[in-house]
Amino acid sequence: MKKIIIIDGGPRMNMNTAKLLQSFAEGAKSASSDIEVKTIRLYDLDYKGCMSCMACKLKGRASNICRFKDSLTSILEEIAQADGLVLGSPIYFGEVTGLMRAFLERLAFPWLSYNDYSLTAPKRMPVVLIETMNGTPEHNNSNHFGTMEWCITTALGEPHRIIGYNTTQVAKYDNYELGSFSEEAKHAWQDAHWEEDLHKAYEAGKQMAKF
Ligand SMILES: Cc1cc2nc3c(=O)[nH]c(=O)nc-3n(C[C@H](O)[C@H](O)[C@H](O)COP(=O)(O)O)c2cc1C
Repeated sequence: MKKIIIIDGGPRMNMNTAKLLQSFAEGAKSASSDIEVKTIRLYDLDYKGCMSCMACKLKGRASNICRFKDSLTSILEEIAQADGLVLGSPIYFGEVTGLMRAFLERLAFPWLSYNDYSLTAPKRMPVVLIETMNGTPEHNNSNHFGTMEWCITTALGEPHRIIGYNTTQVAKYDNYELGSFSEEAKHAWQDAHWEEDLHKAYEAGKQMAKF
């Protein structure tokens, strides 16, 4: 049985990022019964970013899977054997969330050789990046995964990206100090785009499940 691992790097259950990831999972499951889709919520785990323990670089015992022991260890081992990886995050201050970044440090540092600066994952696999944000396509031109995207591309393969723009951040804008947003404009955007965003995620799931 093939395995797809979805990493949810957002704190909110059942909000924009989680919904796109769920749609991806449904798409993948619809394509084949021979697929396990496992979603891991980083905010439910107790872990740190790279501890610089250097265990992955020990002479004669170097490892391209993180050796630091905490609640991420078994997940990183599972990803090493997976057939597809999905990384989802809301965008905070122009980047992925802190927990997603910490997770990516643990994923990618063991890939990196300090002998020749090559990046080698245990196994290459299809990758999908799912981002959600307040930004619109006109105001979004930065690489939110930063250097980590280059690591992912080199070690796993070129990722496919899905972006949920101009998301609804709260149910009732009037209840908050969110004066730069118009609830009406947000809802109009979402009415025009959200179903399509969900559909793109669903289709990406189907596509990945074909391997
Ligand atoms: C701490 C914080 C920082 C944010 N920074 C940005 C940002 O830099 N750019 C942006 O477009 N949206 C930003 N947002 C909005 C979120 O990215 C957006 O609401 C996202 O869809 C939330 O995902 P969720 O609904 O899955 O929680 C920020 C939200 C929070 C809470």
